[in-house]
Amino acid sequence: MPKVTFLPANVTVEFESGKLPYQEHGLPESLLDVALNLGVHLEHACGGNCACTTCHVVVKQGEDNLSEASDDELDRLDMAADLQLSSRLGCQCIVKGDVVVEIPAWNRNYISEGGASILGDAIPPPKKPQPHVQASDTH
Ligand code: FES
Repeated sequence: MPKVTFLPANVTVEFESGKLPYQEHGLPESLLDVALNLGVHLEHACGGNCACTTCHVVVKQGEDNLSEASDDELDRLDMAADLQLSSRLGCQCIVKGDVVVEIPAWNRNYISEGGASILGDAIPPPKKPQPHVQASDTH
């Protein structure tokens, strides 16, 4: 049961690997998918398609418990404000174990009072599920 702690709110959520219902934003069981499933607001202006940097997080603990960054993620991260050595895109890193991440201050500023996104309807609709995450056993 991986645990994810989001700072600075210091909210910890946990989930059972392979059992998280995919929220169709970002990679399945990515930090973004975990956040959306468990009620933590993490901005995702491009809908989790590795096309913005609003899901930028800084990993404080458990870097090895996240999937390796793809070239696409690293290229996109280069454009992130306040880039750090342990920066990741929440929509691209898959959670495999316990991690502690911080949502950068500039990113938190996207959140309006009440916790809703100021981007509102500007967030694109979910992308289609990826073939490798669909159930394969249809007996
Ligand atoms: S939500 Fe846009 S890159 Fe992650």
